[in-house]
Amino acid sequence: MGLFKKLFVFFVGFSLAFYFYSGDEFKPEMLKGKRIIVTGASTGIGEQIAYHLAQMGSKVLITARREERLKEVVAKCLSLGAASAHYIAGNMDDMVFAETVVKEAKNILGGLDMLILNHIGHHKYGYFSGNIDEIRKLIEVNFLSYATMTVAALPMLEKSNGSIVAVSSLAVGKIGVPFVIPYASTKFALDGFFSSLRLELALQNSNVSISLCILSYINTDAAVKSISHVVNQTPAPKEECALEIIKGAALRKREIYYEYALAKFLTLLRTWAPEFVDYGLSSTLNIENMKPA
Ligand SMILES: NC(=O)c1ccc[n+]([C@@H]2O[C@H](COP(=O)([O-])OP(=O)(O)OC[C@H]3O[C@@H](n4cnc5c(N)ncnc54)[C@H](OP(=O)(O)O)[C@@H]3O)[C@@H](O)[C@H]2O)c1
Ligand SMILES: *[C@@H]1O[C@H](CO)[C@@H](O)[C@H](O)[C@H]1NC(C)=O
Ligand SMILES: *[C@@H]1O[C@H](CO)[C@@H](O)[C@H](O)[C@H]1NC(C)=O
Repeated sequence: MGLFKKLFVFFVGFSLAFYFYSGDEFKPEMLKGKRIIVTGASTGIGEQIAYHLAQMGSKVLITARREERLKEVVAKCLSLGAASAHYIAGNMDDMVFAETVVKEAKNILGGLDMLILNHIGHHKYGYFSGNIDEIRKLIEVNFLSYATMTVAALPMLEKSNGSIVAVSSLAVGKIGVPFVIPYASTKFALDGFFSSLRLELALQNSNVSISLCILSYINTDAAVKSISHVVNQTPAPKEECALEIIKGAALRKREIYYEYALAKFLTLLRTWAPEFVDYGLSSTLNIENMKPA
């Protein structure tokens, strides 16, 4: 047998063994009393993550720009059973603010067990205008603030054997798609930053886990409003998506795929047959509904 064939047989056997014997099982108690920051939690997936954590008895510190919304989410978290719930309002285009949120975790929660980075800035859905400033602005909100908060949080996470969760995307974080060029630029950057950081931490015997979330189309108001006229697919529920993110994070998975089969399969297929993935994606778009550039 050739070397590659042997490796492949070994790979299949090993994968099956791993799949059946890796006995880690999620229990909601894993999150009880845990001190957790959730960004972009005034609506969408972040809001749902906050509610699940509240039900599991975590201590949550949430952030976004809209104070009124954050107040409502905090109140609901407390009614759902959060051990504590606080908010800080501000804009993630400001790195001083990004750092302040982490510092406040130290003051308010006395440390940190999990940093869930989930916010994204607003972007237009359409052909790229060619304006590089659009990319620069979105890089600040969607990427540099993630790196800033990570750097600020690492000392606390080292103490707690903690976790970092970065919410990314299948169709802009692993696969290129049209009409979201600035957004896709920021999400691909997350993979580079967090996958490299994971390895650097491991090489230094750190016990901080990093989970990158690869999400397919989810039914948040923002996503449905901006793409449903062009993307001809049924979005998956944000409540279940939020729960899968928490489960994967608690089990310290390196990548969390949701919806699992679709996101995992297309990510693998993209490596082997990118032209086929491009063709498949293009043929499902209602391109006649997209305004010309
Ligand atoms: N929905 C999908 O189909 C989908 C698919 C793949 C991946 N994802 C990923 O999932 C995550 C959540 O998506 P979502 O659909 O739940 O988004 P969303 O509903 O648009 O929520 C975005 C959150 O970020 C906050 N935010 C926006 N601009 C901000 C700024 N400049 N500074 C601070 N906070 C800001 C928003 O609150 P304020 O307006 O109050 O600031 C809101 O809480 C994102 O990372 C996204 O890339 C989503
Ligand atoms: C972190 O993990 C190490 C090794 O398992 C353990 O000795 C230590 O007590 C843990 N610290 C915390 C705060 O859980
Ligand atoms: C890493 O942290 C996890 C979660 O606290 C703990 O279960 C594990 O024993 C730690 N491992 C090492 C090698 O420190």
